[in-house]
Amino acid sequence: SLLTGCMNHDMAEMSAVAPTIQEGAFTTPLPLMKTVAEGASLKAGTQTHAIVPGKPASALGYNDSMMGPTFRVERGVPVTIPFTNSLTEETNIHWHGLVVPANMDGHPDQLVKAGQSFAYSFTLDQPAAMAWYHPHPHMQTGKQVYMGLAGLFIVDSPEERALKLPSGEFELPLVIQDKRLSAAGAPVYNPTMPEIMVGYMGDTIVVNGVNAPFHPVATRTYRLRLLNGSNGRIYNLALSNGDAFHVIGSDGGLLPAPERVSSLLLAPGERVDLLVDFSKAALNSEVFLQSSAFSGVGSQGSQTFKLVKFMVNRSEADPFKMPASFPALTTLSPASTAKTRKFAIGDAMHGAGGHSNKKSMAGMHTINGKTYDAARIDESVALNSTEIWEFDNSMGDEPHPMHLHGTLFQVVGRSGGRDSLMAHEKGWKDTVLVMPKETVRVIVRFQRSGKFVFHCHNLEHEDDGMMLNYEVK
Ligand code: C2O
Ligand code: CU
Repeated sequence: SLLTGCMNHDMAEMSAVAPTIQEGAFTTPLPLMKTVAEGASLKAGTQTHAIVPGKPASALGYNDSMMGPTFRVERGVPVTIPFTNSLTEETNIHWHGLVVPANMDGHPDQLVKAGQSFAYSFTLDQPAAMAWYHPHPHMQTGKQVYMGLAGLFIVDSPEERALKLPSGEFELPLVIQDKRLSAAGAPVYNPTMPEIMVGYMGDTIVVNGVNAPFHPVATRTYRLRLLNGSNGRIYNLALSNGDAFHVIGSDGGLLPAPERVSSLLLAPGERVDLLVDFSKAALNSEVFLQSSAFSGVGSQGSQTFKLVKFMVNRSEADPFKMPASFPALTTLSPASTAKTRKFAIGDAMHGAGGHSNKKSMAGMHTINGKTYDAARIDESVALNSTEIWEFDNSMGDEPHPMHLHGTLFQVVGRSGGRDSLMAHEKGWKDTVLVMPKETVRVIVRFQRSGKFVFHCHNLEHEDDGMMLNYEVK
């Protein structure tokens, strides 16, 4: 039975629900994300959007658009974004990757009721990076994000501009998601029990809000800034021609040096900043950004599928030169850490407590054997202290992208699976993929006081309770 399957960790059975990706026709132009300076406002509501070209259907969105506006602000400039909730239920906004005051962070406690407004304001003091924003009401995050509430937030800085990275039409923010669609083309969110175990997977890939887009490119280097905005699906990014590309940044900003790779795993919530060189591509050739098959997470990685088609349609001299050096990374030193905290992540059977207090299959996903309790502070941390947080999935069968609010961290080690860091783990992060059997250690400095959450960014796991509160004071 299903229940027995869960109890025995029969992940082969459960992973079988991950649907096969249906590839689209790649005949729709890639929607370019609308960029606004700080000063714009946000409204969450129901809107009409054609994920499948020619099939406008109902979804949620910010500012009547499936992908909300891309905010683009200079570090240090005060930002105020008035927000109105035009949904019929509570929501809020979490600024994922932005280190903002606790009362502006979109903690699950800080809800904006239907019909009400709240002005988010903060001033950022962190490296230039691409963050994002999305709702965070407990047990509704998965649904609201999936139905269309998400947007990007880019922080710029003089140091980054000095590198003269490809910009303007040569800088493409891309949000990658997977959806299941109704016959009318509307996103459908209805996870049943096995999907709560593995995450709700779609069979239709959506980039910047549309299925199977194409984009014309010149024979130049492009900067692709990617967000995995999916609830549960991991992508193994690669180019269809097998070419390598450079990883130059991650969640929290630029890496200290570019890393050349031919593929890269991107988990839900993570961002990556890539340089893709089309300068040697043949005129009129097509190169796809794709997700290549990968191992380690059951049937989820069994398929190779396309994300975006790039059509090389004009020949131009490529003015881009890789910068001789990137800004130095301020490295947090393990020698200065006040303490190490260990978190058994995954499911109730592996932590203290087991299933004894569970009346149903809900609440299978836990941290240290516990599910989220809004009234409980799980960890107390000293302001400005530096700690090692260890995420132990050594007993687990599922991947968990672990995300901390309120700060950025650096990955210091991994064991049990891959024993080295991935390219995009060599800079500031806010979300790190912990694969089955792995233990990952991060170093983190707590820079903002107040109450924040720490959770799995598989949104079905998060909504199932794989989240805790920590307080900095
Ligand atoms: Cu993007 Cu608490 O999450
Ligand atoms: Cu998880």
